[in-house]
Amino acid sequence: MTSSASLDAPAPARGFAHPAIGRAGGKAILFGEHSVVYGHPAIAVPLPEVAVRAAVQLTTGAGRLRSALYTGPLTRAPQRLLPTVTALDAALSALCPPGTSALLEVESDIPAERGLGSSAAVAAAVISAVAEAAGVALSRDERFELIQIAERAAHGRPSGLDARAVCATQPLWFQAGAVRDLPLGAPLHLVVADTGVRGRTGEAVAAVRERLAADPHDTGAQLGELGALADAAGAQLRVGDLPAVGAAMDRAHAVLDLLGVSDPALDRLASAARQAGALGAKLTGGGRGGCVVALAPGRDEADRIAGALRRTGAAAVWTTTVPRAAEVSGTGAAEHTDSAERAVEATA
Ligand code: MEV
Repeated sequence: MTSSASLDAPAPARGFAHPAIGRAGGKAILFGEHSVVYGHPAIAVPLPEVAVRAAVQLTTGAGRLRSALYTGPLTRAPQRLLPTVTALDAALSALCPPGTSALLEVESDIPAERGLGSSAAVAAAVISAVAEAAGVALSRDERFELIQIAERAAHGRPSGLDARAVCATQPLWFQAGAVRDLPLGAPLHLVVADTGVRGRTGEAVAAVRERLAADPHDTGAQLGELGALADAAGAQLRVGDLPAVGAAMDRAHAVLDLLGVSDPALDRLASAARQAGALGAKLTGGGRGGCVVALAPGRDEADRIAGALRRTGAAAVWTTTVPRAAEVSGTGAAEHTDSAERAVEATA
């Protein structure tokens, strides 16, 4: 299991005298990917086993980025980092005096383009760090609007589900831009497995749109069924009817396959999870690569399913337990740094 320990620790940002820190976690969509784009409901859970940490120091000099993918002037960052740069620019122009730039360091153990919310989480962490550096307390909605600016650079017309989910600390229900907490009647033991194949969310969303235009009747019915499954699963999750939730996940995977967004690697991992005892399994996120999420009956079974998925060739596997409502504290919000973290000293 990947650990987020290195991101939780107040590791210094090399070369920054007084960095402000922002963090955000990954997410897994349980129900409603793709159909959420058309106004149907969706359910997502936080995946804190993977996370992003951004360190920002404001400057009036030239902006620089340090990350695993690229280190150098912000103006020369590769196209792939456009959402990160867009998040930084959006936050700087909304929250700082004109002419402010930033030294930005990003560390992430959320695999990129795997449907786990990497782009939205990077944006959330960067925006939180800039807000902290500028001394501005952002509301959830203000942060959401800024993340969406970066998400549009990543995927064109995002529903907003990812931007909300990476800031959540509890399961959430999302529909047509509105979000609320979804209290669970029983803990969820989930296994997330990465095919190792980069997902292509923008392409998958565009393919569904074309399919809907070409065949509005059948494709509309499939999107409607995904919405109905999310609706039913919302009620099943509230009462802790996990076998029913698992069956709905299996059906959602089949419908996503009919929509053309699954692939053989996702199908193979989903069926390996079922054979290893999962109550249900499906692709999560945009599909066409990326990850599957499986629901286990308990923690031990989750470990067994994780082992089976590794043996089936998953590139990475995470297990997570989403606690039931009574075990949850706090409301969903991206973490801001506190004053202790601001005291982090530079080492370089
Ligand atoms: C991507 O994580 C989820 C999709 O539904 C796209 C979106 O909601 O914008 C495929």
